[in-house]
Amino acid sequence: MNKVSAAITAVGAYVPDFVLSNQVLETMVDTNDEWITTRTGIKERRLLKEPNKGTSHLAIKAAENLIDKANIDPKDIDLVIVATATPDMPVAATAVFVASEIGATNAFGYDLQAACSSFLYGMSTAASYIESGRYKKVLLIGADKMSSIIDYEDRTTCIIFGDGAGAVLFEPNTEGLGVQDEILRSDGIGREFLKIDAGGSILPASEETVKNKQHFVRQDGKTVFKYAVSNMADVSEQIMKRNNLNNEDVSWLIAHQANKRIIDATSRRMKLDDSKVLMNIERYGNTTSATLPLLMSDFENKLKKGDNIIFAAFGGGFTWGSMYLKWAYDSNSN
Ligand code: UT7
Repeated sequence: MNKVSAAITAVGAYVPDFVLSNQVLETMVDTNDEWITTRTGIKERRLLKEPNKGTSHLAIKAAENLIDKANIDPKDIDLVIVATATPDMPVAATAVFVASEIGATNAFGYDLQAACSSFLYGMSTAASYIESGRYKKVLLIGADKMSSIIDYEDRTTCIIFGDGAGAVLFEPNTEGLGVQDEILRSDGIGREFLKIDAGGSILPASEETVKNKQHFVRQDGKTVFKYAVSNMADVSEQIMKRNNLNNEDVSWLIAHQANKRIIDATSRRMKLDDSKVLMNIERYGNTTSATLPLLMSDFENKLKKGDNIIFAAFGGGFTWGSMYLKWAYDSNSN
């Protein structure tokens, strides 16, 4: 009897039309294109500008893109997970609304929050449901409207983040494809270095917190950078060793797009050729929960059945990890 593994069988994505370029940011804060490009690799990012639309708008568009492309009946979906750090509302899970809007009327839904590692952790959760045999179709969406928590007067954060969404479908596989292994970690030391101070149960919203701009994300970039570089490289190297993979065996690195220098440090430690490192940070910036599925969508045509992919992420909390997955389909034949 073949063991059931959890494979990704379809992907979809959505980014809003509005482009915020480095050149426009130069007119908003004391920064310049050269600094942003050399320190981060980012050239532009997308922002959701339409009023009264939240993260669910991005998530629904990404899910609909997947459903159209893969020709799936949404009624067959068992579970919708939305990985996000910017839910529509603090209470009433975004995934529940998304599931209803896309016609997944037989599914249940919930949100998963682990900052920039939300999607990677979500892949672990979705895969476990499939491997256990409990569900057959799990839709995992990574979506964030980062512009809703960014202070566009703070040059240390507003140059980094953008809005976007991506979706993947997990299904059972009996050919040994899909998720092979994972290393997931977290460390509470991180919460001082990347956070939103107010709006939670410690410091609920008040006139004071709004006046003090405490509802925006703040980070100690230098410290986060140091932890990100060493931790993401460590787990990526470990997962290769544990699975007897050398740099030739690895087809692709799909890493969280926070800073090109962090990704470069990880791929150097893995001794990977640059051509195997998927990158789109220059176009979207850091879209938090959406970076990994946006990469899968943008480079879907390159991914071939049986390809060995290492995923890696690092985020606030701190949260981080890596996953080894064998790609399950050739997109041209899909
Ligand atoms: O996805 C979740 C996890 N988040 C991350 O992984 C982000 C990790 N951190 C980073 O990517 C980087 O630390 C940043 C991109 C945020 C900052 O880059 P850095 O190379 O660490 O710069 P820095 O904070 O050390 O600042 C260097 C200099 C400073 O000036 P002085 O003190 O040397 O005079 C900053 O004030 O650059 C200045 N600076 C800027 N200059 C122009 C900071 N932000 C800007 C800016 N434009 N936007």
